[in-house]
Amino acid sequence: MWTARKAGIWGYASLLVGLAAFHVDFFTNGATGAELSRGPYLQLSTPQSIVVVWRTEGASDPRVRIGSSPNELNRTISSEAISLRVSADVKTAGKVPLLYKETASHASSREPRSVNPSTVSNTFQYEALLTGLKPETRYYYAVYDGNRRLAGGDQQHYFVTSPPVGSDAKMRIWVVGDSGTGGREQRDVYLAMQEFTQETKRDIDLYLHVGDMAYGDGADSEFQRNFFAVYQPTLRNTVCWPTMGNHEGHTSRGFSGFGPYYDAYVVPTAGEAGGLPSGTEAYYSFDIADVHFICLDSHDLDRSPDGAMAKWLIADLEEAQGDWLVAFWHHPPYTKGSHDSDREGQLVEMRSHFMPILEAAGVDIVLSGHSHIYERSMLIDGAYATPTTADGVILDDGDGHPTGDGAYRKSAGRNPHEGTVAIVSGHGGGAIRRIGTMPLMREIILEYGSVILDLDGDTLTGTMINKNNVQRDLFSIVKRGKVCAKRVTKPWQPAPWPSNESE
Ligand SMILES: [Fe+2]
Repeated sequence: MWTARKAGIWGYASLLVGLAAFHVDFFTNGATGAELSRGPYLQLSTPQSIVVVWRTEGASDPRVRIGSSPNELNRTISSEAISLRVSADVKTAGKVPLLYKETASHASSREPRSVNPSTVSNTFQYEALLTGLKPETRYYYAVYDGNRRLAGGDQQHYFVTSPPVGSDAKMRIWVVGDSGTGGREQRDVYLAMQEFTQETKRDIDLYLHVGDMAYGDGADSEFQRNFFAVYQPTLRNTVCWPTMGNHEGHTSRGFSGFGPYYDAYVVPTAGEAGGLPSGTEAYYSFDIADVHFICLDSHDLDRSPDGAMAKWLIADLEEAQGDWLVAFWHHPPYTKGSHDSDREGQLVEMRSHFMPILEAAGVDIVLSGHSHIYERSMLIDGAYATPTTADGVILDDGDGHPTGDGAYRKSAGRNPHEGTVAIVSGHGGGAIRRIGTMPLMREIILEYGSVILDLDGDTLTGTMINKNNVQRDLFSIVKRGKVCAKRVTKPWQPAPWPSNESE
């Protein structure tokens, strides 16, 4: 039972004490010959800390070295400060938390699959919490087995700590959903982002994945093949903040926090990166600069207005700082792509129960996936009814383009009910599809692609690039001065889709 993790990684110390007996057996002072089998990759960054995660096949003597250049990794984090988890087949002398192994009850509650969902045998997963770092600072790193370097010590293995909380936002966020096929489109979408960042001369600072990252069942081997192997050039220097999709839900469980999804990620449970402790990795919040991020579990937890997740969200938002509020989860509140938010329960509940809480707190951007399409709303507020209509819920029906109809405008700071842009970014790799027209949408694009969000002080710019790195949508939100939100009486409407039939 990974209780120390549920109490937050700052509770690692107690776990590490419990591992002492195990260290005697495995953490010999020297290389063991173990092979790197995942990572290293980054998680849970704050202005002062970050977590480096990697796996080996076979036991190793884990170390991380960091420094200001690849050739000067002069600080060593040794095994005593690195937590360990192992696959269930590994014989351990002490009590070591286990990685996912499918139980009989799990197996009986799912469709028969061809892939074994359990963790690959002889797996050792290391999670190193690096503390005492300087904000907004680049560090290079390498991971070792004893004195044998497994990865890093080069220009590609680095991290940049977060800027101080409260400082002016200047960041680039990559948003991807439903990518985890391991197929051509997923790789093209990834390459397009890399080309875009090279052309615009700015790397991404963080990666938000809105779920369905490991088709078909979120099995450990599918995570490796369809997520880690594909994105490793980014994951080794950029934190991916995730939310669980329904495909990960085939093997991972939000209520227990067990499964390959929960093994793969280290996210805040105890307010480690700002925000109110959630006590679970299924939903959480974090602060970067003056942005408060909210991740919700739309798949397998109670979505009722008086459920634990809603109560936590209300309490979190009461205390949240930051001029910007960005929320993300898997099941979209508004869509007519490959799913229908007028008809499907999870989507209806996220809209009717969670959008009111978020808009009362002045949410700016709501990101989701699940529906394999790109849909981007006008500036909306109060669209909670079923079915969704555009009546009385559009605050600006323009395109939001700075040189088109003009950026969407909101007052300075963060104020309730001044408008949200809802984005479905489910076009990252899974087969795209459209069944109709969601009347709130300003852009509906049936192409593979991803979304880049650029925050710069009082301005947010969202860009959708398709898999060929062609810009297909661009909008901005400017939060400046005092803006009186008014509702558009007869808003612009997107053209109907030929059939416009929900299935
Ligand atoms: Fe999905």
